[in-house]
Amino acid sequence: MQSKKRSVVIAAIILTILYWMFTYVLFINHEADETYAGVSINSTYMDNERSPPLVLMICNDGNRIPEKETAMTKFETQLRQTKVLIKSAMRLSHSPIRFIIFGNDDTILPTIEAYVAPWPDQMRERLALSYRSVFYPNSWNLIDFYEKCAAARLLLHWALPEFDSAIYLDTDHVFMRPPEHLMEHFKNFDDKQVFGMAPAHGYYQAYNVEFPYYGKKGLSDALMLTNLTRWRNLPFDWLPMVTSVV
Ligand SMILES: *[C@@H]1O[C@H](CO)[C@@H](O)[C@H](O)[C@H]1NC(C)=O
Ligand SMILES: *[C@@H]1O[C@H](CO)[C@@H](O)[C@H](O)[C@H]1NC(C)=O
Repeated sequence: MQSKKRSVVIAAIILTILYWMFTYVLFINHEADETYAGVSINSTYMDNERSPPLVLMICNDGNRIPEKETAMTKFETQLRQTKVLIKSAMRLSHSPIRFIIFGNDDTILPTIEAYVAPWPDQMRERLALSYRSVFYPNSWNLIDFYEKCAAARLLLHWALPEFDSAIYLDTDHVFMRPPEHLMEHFKNFDDKQVFGMAPAHGYYQAYNVEFPYYGKKGLSDALMLTNLTRWRNLPFDWLPMVTSVV
């Protein structure tokens, strides 16, 4: 009776280990086998120190009251979105990817690090994750403009002095294709273009904003490719210009 019980327990343990190995191996194979509608990925961008980082901003506005829709504070929602965004990028890519998170709260990096810690080494080792305090000039009157820290993205060229280019993303993005596809768009820039952005669809009209915007619809800064080298070398003073517009 005793030995029968013991063999059942041992069998259960072996099955669990097999199941775990099987899932793990499938996971890796699956990752290696993915192709994306015949689009070849040129990962030159990913290979060196100067490859464009993916830049996120998370600011804790100090509000502790959960929002109705999510039962989470805005800050908690942003942290959760960030986890999903990073996971989707890593899961769809085979290359090293650098994420730089700007924020105003020291708990951000440990929270994300704890989230990625249990990932398979093969995925986690490709992720370069770092945190910087959100950057803005002393007594800049725009820091709380629109939403806490939202205007800080207007200063990325100074906040990332060692990079030639970067991709800024709002945290509510999820990758459906490898991030390399996004980086490939730098090749569509001519030799003067500084930003790659999409038109905003109706936002400015819907909210009747009073400040000037580009073209008929304005541009969305939720996703922004930028050549930081050119941004730093614009032929006019960026900060007074931006401050005067708003
Ligand atoms: C990838 O892009 C780089 C830079 O544009 C180019 O020199 C290289 O030949 C490309 N590699 C492939 C395999 O297309
Ligand atoms: C950004 O602009 C500089 C100066 O024009 C150029 O040398 C560099 O290759 C550009 N970077 C990208 C990623 O296109």
